[in-house]
Amino acid sequence: MLVAPPAHIDPDPAFRIDVLAGLAARPRAIPARWLYDRKGSALFEAITDLPEYYPTRVETALLAAHCDAVAALVGRGRAVVEFGSGSSAKTPHLLAAVDPSAYVPIDISGDFLRASAAALAADFPKLPIQPIEADFMHPIDPPEGIARLPKLGFFPGSTIGNMVPRTAVNLLRAMVETLGEGAMLLIGIDRIKSTDVLIPAYDDAAGVTARFNLNLLTRINRELGGDMPIDAFRHRAIWNDADARIEMHLAATRDIAFTVDGEGFAMTAGETIHTENSHKYGPRDARLLLRAGAWTPIAEWTDAEDRFALILAEARPAGTAP
Ligand code: AVI
Repeated sequence: MLVAPPAHIDPDPAFRIDVLAGLAARPRAIPARWLYDRKGSALFEAITDLPEYYPTRVETALLAAHCDAVAALVGRGRAVVEFGSGSSAKTPHLLAAVDPSAYVPIDISGDFLRASAAALAADFPKLPIQPIEADFMHPIDPPEGIARLPKLGFFPGSTIGNMVPRTAVNLLRAMVETLGEGAMLLIGIDRIKSTDVLIPAYDDAAGVTARFNLNLLTRINRELGGDMPIDAFRHRAIWNDADARIEMHLAATRDIAFTVDGEGFAMTAGETIHTENSHKYGPRDARLLLRAGAWTPIAEWTDAEDRFALILAEARPAGTAP
C-alpha cells in the first residue's frame, strides 16, 4: 500500500527562521546553503558537468597537472583535511600525490560524507579515513591520532567565493585553529573575468542552474507548507561589479501574493529574492584575502586563460615586522 508522505515534514528550524526573515527583509535574501537539499545537491553535481560551467573542469585539470609540484612543496605524510568534502571528486589526484598519513573529510551532510569516504576507501585501501560530520565554519578538534600530525587543508571548488569577504576571512581563521600553525592549505579560487564567460556559467542554455535556483521554492513549499507560485519566478544571474560577484536571484514575473508557514507575503513584478553570491578574485585580491585570514600564500597555479587559481598557503606564526 502506498502511503502519502506527510504534506509538512519536520523542517529544520533554522531553515524556517532564515526563509521567513529573508522574505520579510529588503532586499529579500535567503542564505545559499538552503539551495542544497537532496535535489539541489544533485542539480549542483549536474551543473559541474555543464559546458558553460568552467570552474570544476579547470580546477580538476590544474590539480592533475600540478599535484606533483604541490607534493614537492608540502612534502609527504601530512594528514589531508578536506573542508566541505561533498562528493570528493577532485581529492584522488591530491591524495595520490601527497601520500597522506590520514584523510579527514569534513562535511555537514553525513550522507555525502559517508558515500565519498566509502568511494575513496576503495581507491586508497591503506589510507586511514576519519570523516567528521560538522560545520567547518567553526574551529573543529581533530580526532585522536590526527591532532599531532602535520596537516594539509584542502578547500577546492571556490566555495570560499560563496561567502562575503568578512565571512570568508572568519572561515580562513577558523581553519588555522582547526589545522594548527605550520599547517598548509590548498585552496581553489575563481578569478574575475569577462561577463561573456561568467554569466553563461551561472545561466546555462540547458536551464540546469535555473532549476537549481528554483528548487529552493519547491523546498520552501514542501518543508514550510508554502504556496509560492513557482511559475511566477524566473532565475536571474547578474554580475555585481562593485562587489566583484555573480548574484543569483529569483525574480517575480508578475505581482504575486503567497503564504509560507502561515505568514503572508506580496511581491511586485520585477522584485527579486537574492539566493546566492559567488565572489570572484583577481590575483592580488585572492592573496590579500588569504593574508587577512592568517594564511601566507607561497605558490599558485592558474590555467592559460587565467580563469581559476589553485593557491598553496601556509599558516605561519604572526611576524613582528611592521
Ligand atoms: C558551490 N559553489 C562554488 C558554486 C559557485 O560556482 O559559486 C555554486 C553554484 N551556483 C550556481 N552554480 C554554481
